[in-house]
Amino acid sequence: DAAEKGGYDHYMLKEIHEQPQSLRQAIAGRIDDFEGRVDLDLSLPESFLREVDEIQLVACGTSYHACLFGKQLIESLADVRATVEYGSEYAVGSGRTPDRTLVVGVSQSGETADTLRGLRAARRSGVRTLGVTNTVDSTVARECDDAVYIQAGPEIGVAATKTFGSQVVTLALLAVAVADARDELDPEVAGDLLDGLQRLPGAVQGVLDDEETIRDVAEHYADGEAFFFVGRQFGSPVALEGALKLKEISYDHAEGFPAGELKHGPLALVTDETPVLALLTDGARPDETANNVREVQARGAPVIAFSSATRGEEDVAEQFSIPDLGLLEPLVANVYLQLFAYHLANSKGRSIDKPRNLAKSVTVE
Ligand code: G6P
Repeated sequence: DAAEKGGYDHYMLKEIHEQPQSLRQAIAGRIDDFEGRVDLDLSLPESFLREVDEIQLVACGTSYHACLFGKQLIESLADVRATVEYGSEYAVGSGRTPDRTLVVGVSQSGETADTLRGLRAARRSGVRTLGVTNTVDSTVARECDDAVYIQAGPEIGVAATKTFGSQVVTLALLAVAVADARDELDPEVAGDLLDGLQRLPGAVQGVLDDEETIRDVAEHYADGEAFFFVGRQFGSPVALEGALKLKEISYDHAEGFPAGELKHGPLALVTDETPVLALLTDGARPDETANNVREVQARGAPVIAFSSATRGEEDVAEQFSIPDLGLLEPLVANVYLQLFAYHLANSKGRSIDKPRNLAKSVTVE
């Protein structure tokens, strides 16, 4: 067991550290730098992708958060409407043309019953399906019309870590491929994104090299009454994912939401006992989020900020600097949030790899 953990105390920590490698694997052989193109080896006909007028992403848990990130990429790059639904809530709606809709099921395991149920409903109604999964020959891969693998390698820890980043990267590649098929590809935008994807593993390594600092911060705030995670745009799914990670393994009350929603309810819970983790990076509308940060500070909350290196010093309790990576910066900050959750839970002696009441893959509805 110890050997399988590669010297780490937990699979989760090992998998967090594997990310530079797993992120490289997600793009390996799929980007043509010269042409600024992506090849996902899709068998879905290009003519279908050209005509598609809605992409519905279906998933659960962490995969759902990856879809929220992917939706924004697809809409901004390919100029096609994209929606995200929980597998357990997915129902084929009216007013859609089956032959112009693509349903993308995103599942690390490829076996989540709720996601499979959504995909099966889509297939029954004649909609084409694409599976995005980590598991070769899984049910999702077999039942969908086409499959793309995220190539992250096995993930053992119940709390998904490395597969989140790989799912987002794969959906980013899909966004470029769909944009290309639809003749919507802006070479400059796509070029920046593809360049960012190639620099992502190095930026993540930088976070891993700074582990001790985030560990000290996690331990310092471990007694917080509740933890709030906020961000906008691409920072919003990362805020949700940061909160999910913390609640899964520490059992602390943690909530994530788009920063603009603070004032519509959660602000009532903010006190000097509730640390707020805020994404102030590129791609997360940092100036607007900084205004929300001041609102929580006025209620005494300590703020832990993850901000673009270019923003300089923020007036916050703790600050982590994220290297320049455009709209992918929240994905880099996410690795700090994973380490925050891990070290906070570990300081409380929690069962990190097998949290109570949770399973790696939930095969019941
Ligand atoms: C379970 C796991 C989560 C995971 C979710 C979806 O609830 O505990 O970590 O995000 O299932 O799993 P999937 O394999 O479909 O991505």
